[in-house]
Amino acid sequence: MRTLIAYLSYSGNTKEVAEKVDSKLKQIGVGVDMHRIGIDPPVNVAAYQYVFIGTFTWEMGSTPDEVKDFVLEVGYKPDNVAVFGTGDTQFGGDNLYCKAAEKLATFYDSRWPALKIEQSPRGSQEQLIDQWLERVLEDVRSYA
Ligand SMILES: Cc1cc2nc3c(=O)[nH]c(=O)nc-3n(C[C@H](O)[C@H](O)[C@H](O)COP(=O)(O)O)c2cc1C
Repeated sequence: MRTLIAYLSYSGNTKEVAEKVDSKLKQIGVGVDMHRIGIDPPVNVAAYQYVFIGTFTWEMGSTPDEVKDFVLEVGYKPDNVAVFGTGDTQFGGDNLYCKAAEKLATFYDSRWPALKIEQSPRGSQEQLIDQWLERVLEDVRSYA
């Protein structure tokens, strides 16, 4: 089984979350390919059993253009997308916090709520990743 982690990160927070998800998946023997949105050549999403998409949130809750382009590039709605995101509550409070990740999860009818991480996942928020990933992995394990 192979999984894809596609993410966009400017200042490194979302990349850190992607790397943590990557290492946890590898720990349980799941094959992972990383895709840097906006940098790497197009990827065949249909070749993966699970697709993780990571995005930060931009101006007033918006989704970065690179992520919108990636969604168009994928061109269809895979039924196995899990979304994670980073954001900052100081930009507009709870309403806009990690809004891009929320919107993406809704768009893909994701079976899991979007993981929301405030800035860097280092420290106590690592538990949030573990708990979220555990829910996704229940599904992955039943498939494997
Ligand atoms: C101009 C600007 C606008 C932002 N707007 C939001 C926002 O509306 N909601 C939110 O949750 N975070 C917002 N953020 C915070 C970023 O999403 C957060 O810093 C994120 O972790 C950056 O991800 P990266 O390190 O992967 O690039 C904003 C940051 C900047 C610089």
